[in-house]
Amino acid sequence: MLRKIAVTDLVVGMYVVDTGLSWLEHPYLYTEEGELRSQVAVAGIAASGYTEAFIDTERGAYANTLSGEPGGEVSLAALLARGPVTPVAPVVPLAEELETAKGVYKDCLSTAQAMLRDVAAGGEVDIEAPQALVNEVIASAVRNPDALIALGKLRRHDAYTFTHGVNVAVLAVAFGASLGIEAEGLRELGLAGLFHDLGKTGVPDAILNKPGRLTPGEFTQVKAHPRLGRELLETRGLPEAVLRGVAEHHEKWGGQGYPRGLAGETVHAWGRIIGVVDIFDALTSRRAYKEGMLPTRALAVLYSMRERDFPPGLVERFIKFMGPYPVGSFVRLGSGEYAFVRGSNPARPLSPELLVAFDAAMHPAPRRILAAERDGKGPLAIAEALDPAAYGLDPLDYLGLPAG
Ligand SMILES: [Fe+2]
Repeated sequence: MLRKIAVTDLVVGMYVVDTGLSWLEHPYLYTEEGELRSQVAVAGIAASGYTEAFIDTERGAYANTLSGEPGGEVSLAALLARGPVTPVAPVVPLAEELETAKGVYKDCLSTAQAMLRDVAAGGEVDIEAPQALVNEVIASAVRNPDALIALGKLRRHDAYTFTHGVNVAVLAVAFGASLGIEAEGLRELGLAGLFHDLGKTGVPDAILNKPGRLTPGEFTQVKAHPRLGRELLETRGLPEAVLRGVAEHHEKWGGQGYPRGLAGETVHAWGRIIGVVDIFDALTSRRAYKEGMLPTRALAVLYSMRERDFPPGLVERFIKFMGPYPVGSFVRLGSGEYAFVRGSNPARPLSPELLVAFDAAMHPAPRRILAAERDGKGPLAIAEALDPAAYGLDPLDYLGLPAG
């Protein structure tokens, strides 16, 4: 489909079409046909004084990723086919962004808590505060996505219901950005993440917190939560994509999910992304009745689910995004020393930036910052990931600190 758009809305991957309109009559129309290959090319068009261009929404790498039409469908397959977005170096160093992100994260938690309380008391869902906060989450993720991801480790296990929503929103936004999803889509994803389990306010706590197996009757009640969530949000003027992200986050690729048993590509892309992120956060969360799983282990579990439960390529991309050792991981090195992962390295996932903090006897050591060796056998290579909580350590006490 041909669309005329302002050159300020052009993005890399769009396919510009020469419609044959006369240059003399339309001097501000950019007509050089072909796919826009770089940000420099895009910026150059506006800088040359053009104001409009025709694009073909069915051609070029951008095709079918985001239609831009209200209520338009996003093709997850097209997003995944587009390949990894070149990782951009963080705009702000982690230690600095952590300070800002802490405030954003705290605001998210209190907003999520208030929202659940209001809805449980029969009130309407407030969407104003969440909308403002999701914008702040996106801004922080653009400055340095590691900060908010590391903050997820602050979670208090007694506050799972609302920390989970916040963590899913944060992870979905950061993962979505790595897939090249544009701002409007990220806003929808963030809101869908924050609201995804809102419908659980309609399920009794005794069922939600039951450590053992649910009876078939109890499971039927749990299975209603995506639909209940959608119903609670439906009258609030949110985009349909947000409602579908909420309603479809437990649907599975093979059709064995709930509540509707939708299969394959009928499920909205936001529902799929929330689905992956939801499971990762649930597995790595500590609850009253279980320890949190290490990220490496949780990613292995997701990998084992990839063919049956998720669209081709989605889990693989999520693993690539998180890396085997996300920021905040606590690891033992080949030398026997212990370190925290304080910076991701998307190009070399086995070689993240480390803060060495303890010697082989677990005594505090002079702190040094270094990149892990990639060869798994070297003294400075990561030998294994460990649970910092088992050692009574909070990664956040170390991430913001300089070496020495
Ligand atoms: Fe859920």
